[in-house]
Amino acid sequence: MKKIQKSLLDWYEKNGRHDLPWRNTDDIYHIYLSEIMLQQTQVSRVKEEYYPNFLEKFPTLQTLANAPLDEVLASWSGLGYYSRARNLHKTANLSKKGLPNSPKELQKLPGIGQYTASAICSFGHHQAIPVVDTNIARVIKRFFGLLNPLNDLIWTKADQFLNHKHSRAHNLAVMDLGSLICTPKSPNCRECPLQESCHGKEDPEIYTKTKKKEYESLELFYGIFLKDNKLALVKSSGKMYKNMLELPSVDPIEDNYLGSYKHSYTKYRLNVKLYRIDEYDGDIVWIDIKKLESAPISSLTKKAIDFLQ
Ligand code: ADE
Repeated sequence: MKKIQKSLLDWYEKNGRHDLPWRNTDDIYHIYLSEIMLQQTQVSRVKEEYYPNFLEKFPTLQTLANAPLDEVLASWSGLGYYSRARNLHKTANLSKKGLPNSPKELQKLPGIGQYTASAICSFGHHQAIPVVDTNIARVIKRFFGLLNPLNDLIWTKADQFLNHKHSRAHNLAVMDLGSLICTPKSPNCRECPLQESCHGKEDPEIYTKTKKKEYESLELFYGIFLKDNKLALVKSSGKMYKNMLELPSVDPIEDNYLGSYKHSYTKYRLNVKLYRIDEYDGDIVWIDIKKLESAPISSLTKKAIDFLQ
């Protein structure tokens, strides 16, 4: 095991993604934020845009805790999965003395699961513990030849594989190996530092047979109510977009039809139809058209505004 761990670290030294900003800080809040953002968002979008912008606005856990939720959601606007932002805000408010430094305590906070808790403790506190995300799980399954293992077994094997002396670099190395070499389809086994001892290399794709994603089609009808260069929005009551602002839902009246566009969100394939309205029976939040950029709105709503412009 020592030899293979060494090959892995040598590979990481040469080929790892060392420039990622959250790998070059020991600020626990920054590391925590990056892990939450990276849960469902591509590395490049987080690195170039959302991570630096969010930290400019909320540089410490304390500034985040003190900020109004609306502002936090506005900074998350376009990233999707808004419960992540609501949980960040809640966690900041529950951690006035800083985040705890054990995986068990971290997992008591909203939005922090087993992966995020161990990532914070391994990458931020250099604790010698395993970390398992989807990339790492794939490497472990192939390396140990585990077909359909329970989650607990993957964690146990990741622990067996862990290099206790260089645990942080080891975990980052396995993560990068999964992302760059041990990919779900056509992994590049010839370049892999683990190839000599890998149980999965003869038939690597049997470890990644996944269920076909199921999509749900929905049609949505939204009202466009403009007055004095202000647009009528309402507070979302749905679970997914809770506390965000969105266009008011209306009954479709063909005479007032403005147009339609398509949008994908989680498992939904949406066909959105827009209708002109000049009254609305409900609580309206009027937002100046020029200030929409800094409002807590989703990509779904942004698209409607772009469409009108
Ligand atoms: N480095 C540390 N955590 C990471 C993550 N979740 N994704 C990509 N790179 C990372």
